[in-house]
Amino acid sequence: MSVAKPLPHDAARLHVTGAARYVDDIPTPRGTLHLAFGLSAIACGRVTGMDLAAVRESAGVVAVLTAADLPHGADCSPSAHDEPLLCTGAVQYHGQPLFLVIAESHLAARRAARQAEVAYDEATPILTIDDALAADSRFEEGPRVYAKGDAGSAIATAPHRIDGVIEMGGQEHFYLEGQAALALPQEGGDMVVHASTQHPSEVQHKVADAIGQPMHAVRVETRRMGGGFGGKESQANALAVACAVAAMATGRPCKMRYDRDDDMVITGKRHEFRITYRVGFDADGRLKGVEFVHYARCGWSQDLSLPVADRAMLHADNAYHLPAARIESHRLRTNTASATAFRGFGGPQGMLGIERVMDHVAHELGLDPLAVRQRNYYAAADGGGLSAPRAALPPESISAKKKQCTPYGQEVEDFILHEMTDVLVETSDYHARRAAVAEWNARNPVLRKGIALSPVKFGISFTLSHLNQAGALVHVYQDGSVQLNHGGTEMGQGLFQKVAQVAAARFGLPLKAVRITATDTGKVPNTSATAASSGSDLNGMAVQVACDTIRERMAEFLARYHQEVPEAVTFDGGTVRVSAHEMSFAQAARLCYEHRISLSSTGFYKTPKLAWDRIRGQGRPFYYFAYGAAVTEVVLDSLTGENRILRADILHDCGTSLNPALDIGQIEGGYVQGAGWLTMEELVWDKAGRLRTHAPSTYKIPAFSDRPEVFNVALWEGQNREETIYRSKAVGEPPLMLGISAFLALSDAVASCGTGYPALDAPATPEQILRAVERMRA
Ligand code: MTE
Ligand code: MOS
Repeated sequence: MSVAKPLPHDAARLHVTGAARYVDDIPTPRGTLHLAFGLSAIACGRVTGMDLAAVRESAGVVAVLTAADLPHGADCSPSAHDEPLLCTGAVQYHGQPLFLVIAESHLAARRAARQAEVAYDEATPILTIDDALAADSRFEEGPRVYAKGDAGSAIATAPHRIDGVIEMGGQEHFYLEGQAALALPQEGGDMVVHASTQHPSEVQHKVADAIGQPMHAVRVETRRMGGGFGGKESQANALAVACAVAAMATGRPCKMRYDRDDDMVITGKRHEFRITYRVGFDADGRLKGVEFVHYARCGWSQDLSLPVADRAMLHADNAYHLPAARIESHRLRTNTASATAFRGFGGPQGMLGIERVMDHVAHELGLDPLAVRQRNYYAAADGGGLSAPRAALPPESISAKKKQCTPYGQEVEDFILHEMTDVLVETSDYHARRAAVAEWNARNPVLRKGIALSPVKFGISFTLSHLNQAGALVHVYQDGSVQLNHGGTEMGQGLFQKVAQVAAARFGLPLKAVRITATDTGKVPNTSATAASSGSDLNGMAVQVACDTIRERMAEFLARYHQEVPEAVTFDGGTVRVSAHEMSFAQAARLCYEHRISLSSTGFYKTPKLAWDRIRGQGRPFYYFAYGAAVTEVVLDSLTGENRILRADILHDCGTSLNPALDIGQIEGGYVQGAGWLTMEELVWDKAGRLRTHAPSTYKIPAFSDRPEVFNVALWEGQNREETIYRSKAVGEPPLMLGISAFLALSDAVASCGTGYPALDAPATPEQILRAVERMRA
């Protein structure tokens, strides 16, 4: 069967030979125009005058549009309709698009955009979390609070108490392919758009609104992205809308791609957070009560900030049972690019809060942080927790099972981290290496080592429950080849291959008989963004439904034809058998066609069991949890702060993996991206609100040489206890949070330099580490 096989990415050959087509590679019709935005040079204030004469006269310019030229407003927001494509007067951030240049070439458009004379009435921008708090600048009235029990009195009466604060920076997505779109005007006002987007249906919706047409007039196609990481969930809207309105205005095809600097300045990034904590615990490190306050820096527009901040709250427990908890969340509005989805969608920030708490508590009590973590873990799943290999579950744990709920009232039914941690501790040789690290540090005053194990429990499902749906369209042709389409988008994660494997398995066909076509709003409508790691869960199921519908029709007909019952028909190895009769799948398809059996079907799926009230913070937002754990060992130079990861050992839970090769790729990439966020990627805005780190020269992402020297990744062998596609689990985002172990290992190494608690902020850049070491040694 084609599922559970370690097959390469379906486009691997195209990727490595450079033949894979991205939006900018699509051959364009003659006369295609190119676009560039003119950007605001201030972060806050009003535009009092825009002299665009020089822009219009610049070589190659065909037209220049301002907000006044957009009859339908051209809103680009995925949520609150607060994002006009072009500034309508009030400047909200440095780099905000003010006007749109339409020219004969990309370069001509960019050159012209610099020629504008813009007069501003400048105001003091709100840039930081402190600025926003001082100005009470926020997106929701007052903070949101999720609570369980009385955390305040639990803390007050606990034997030990600590409090603290951790700052964590944002993160640039740095997808290899920048944002890009191409709009091709059709007859009668229709529009075809090629967009590098995780959310073709939203692009369709936004484009339709911007050109004043119903959605049926717009078709959006996305073959692939060169990475999205959440940065193309909403941030692709602006380019597609710009291309569409420009195409309407000129009647010519229009294309837009951001150069890297513009991309980094204009588009949103991961939310920067500050988390303060107050914790009460006993002498063993068991938590009695926790209070968190989250401050999220959301930028100028709402975008996806509310659900991002919600997800941070929903991961404030991570893997730990909190008897009493209070989580307060402030969604702060600032004059910076609008922070957006980024792998983990707030989850990583929330999780880092509780991981800091575990580390701090252990330090306070002089315990191994791993012991403190294990003591606070949720109770193990009962025997029905199929995520564990059955042999690993002692029978006693079935009766010993206690019901434990998250702070938001969801029962944790599938907790497998006890067993996973035990296995990882053994395979990574954690205890011996921890002793060796201590020994090393006793002998080496300059190079200091650190080691940490951190777990991940990540909730799978969109927290906006209605988004948990997907559609598919499958055709079987008379030669027995299969073409399939679904609402998910391919961004390198391997979704297309996984879904093709499902289809091949349903028809008993070799994988090469199945072809997945570009995501297309004309084939599958009303799709959700490919996000929340749910791509294969949702689309895999929808495709399975569509395939099974066709297979059942074929079986029903072939059984009748051979005077057998449908159950006597089997599909396997490219062969269809009806009792003793045998034919190729192609012959079967041909026969069905000749007897007028429909060989095409849609499929639809919606995730069961969800019930979530985000205002009260109660219910079941997640269908299930995905788990993982990582051990990272680092070394740092205490004279310079420079550091490297020596070794990382990961054990990750993909249920029954649909494709172990792709899943291991997701885990390795996720870990490195998470470690990059927390250890080297630093966004710097100056006092005027200008992003100073707007190119790879100043913004450092992990290079190949930064990956762990020893990198052991293993998949937990088990299956999802919920009925997901072939009992697999989502894998896209959860491994990013394994990178937290790298941050904690650095903290461990810094702690060895003195006696206090290092209280590192993220990113723990060499400068930060050096300052912390100096604090420790002072
Ligand atoms: N992997 C690659 N190679 N490129 C990406 O852009 N995006 C991540 C993750 N893995 C991403 C990736 C994010 S943010 C999500 S939500 C999931 O993939 C989306 O795909 P899935 O739902 O099919 O896992
Ligand atoms: Mo992923 S942040 O949900 O696109």
